[in-house]
Amino acid sequence: MDVFIVKDYDAISERAAEILSGAITQNPRLVLGLATGSTPEGLYARLIQAHRAQGLDFSQVTTFNLDEYVGLGPEHEQSYRRFMDEKLFGGVNVRPDNTHVPNGLAVPLLQECRDYERMIREAGGIDIQVLGIGRDGHIAFNEPGTSLGSRTHVAGLTRQTIEDNARFFDSPDDVPRFAISMGIGTIMEARKCLMLASGAGKAEAVRACIEGPITSMITASALQMHPDTVAILDEAAAAKLDRADFYRWQDESRHLIEERL
Ligand code: PGA
Repeated sequence: MDVFIVKDYDAISERAAEILSGAITQNPRLVLGLATGSTPEGLYARLIQAHRAQGLDFSQVTTFNLDEYVGLGPEHEQSYRRFMDEKLFGGVNVRPDNTHVPNGLAVPLLQECRDYERMIREAGGIDIQVLGIGRDGHIAFNEPGTSLGSRTHVAGLTRQTIEDNARFFDSPDDVPRFAISMGIGTIMEARKCLMLASGAGKAEAVRACIEGPITSMITASALQMHPDTVAILDEAAAAKLDRADFYRWQDESRHLIEERL
């Protein structure tokens, strides 16, 4: 895993936006995997800025989101479809038909999961997958104990995740207990993963993900087996890493070989 430690949340968003803008410029038909949550909001704001100011073109880009709450429709204030429309899709020129978020109202749900996998395959697979990380080490809604080979599935949320997400709902009782979520196996097939983490609340999960053993108890740790994962962390999220000095040193030294890569 390539680990970059930057000063603060703004710097995470900036660096991630540079990577995605560069990738879209290089391949206008990029298939982008996207995440919801507080962490990628700054990244999405910068992509909208890049679209407006520099004409970053999303007209041929295809997107697949990681997950959606079961039972929430696209119009629901807290649905991830609505989040994406508001935070990114509405501000860039992506074609609505090319944006995919699992349908949380689908019946049967298992068919929706299979269809989602098929659509990803038919799009040629995901080129870059944006990821946040939960305090319990989850990526997407792959909570501790989820198979590291899992595909898109109906995932149960832990009490901790429900509490963490309750801030967006009137009460914890309103947070859905299930979601449709890409599996770890699905995420691992993305050609590149971009994991973002900010704040002291994520420091333990980040340590376990990057430096702990690979285990389904920390599903993000599967990324240690991924051939091209970039983790962008702020100082607070990186605070528990044993090898933080090494990651910083690598980053500082990169210019020495950049031209040869
Ligand atoms: P957050 O959520 O970005 O809102 O912290 C991350 C996650 O739970 O995956």
